[in-house]
Amino acid sequence: MANVTFTSPRMQRDVTVYATAGDCSTLLSVAQKHQIPVSFECENGECGSCAIEVSILERKAPMGMHLTEKEKTVLRYAGKITAAQLADAETNDVPPPWRLACQFIVRDEDILVTF
Ligand code: FES
Repeated sequence: MANVTFTSPRMQRDVTVYATAGDCSTLLSVAQKHQIPVSFECENGECGSCAIEVSILERKAPMGMHLTEKEKTVLRYAGKITAAQLADAETNDVPPPWRLACQFIVRDEDILVTF
C-alpha cells in the first residue's frame, strides 16, 4: 500500500488516498478513481496536460523509475525537466520531480502530488 497525497489550489484541502502498489495503476487512474481533479486530455503521454510534481515522503531513497520516451519528450518540451535531471534519470535511475500522471505507475512508496 502506498499513501498518495494530492495537493492543489484547485482543491479545498489536501486528500490522501491509499493506492495498491503493484497493480500497475497510473497516478491519473488513481486520481480519477477518487475524483481528484488532475487535468488530462490524451491519457497517452502525448499532450502534457497531466504534468504533476511528485515528492517522496519517505526518508529512504526514491525508487528508480523508468521514463518512457514519450514522457521524456513531453517533459523536455514543456520545460519540466532539465538536461541534468534527464541524464540522472537515464544513468542513475533517479526520478525527476515532474512527471506525467498518465505515465506514472504508483509504487510502494508514499508520495505527495502537486498539481
Ligand atoms: Fe496527455 Fe497525460 S493526459 S500526457
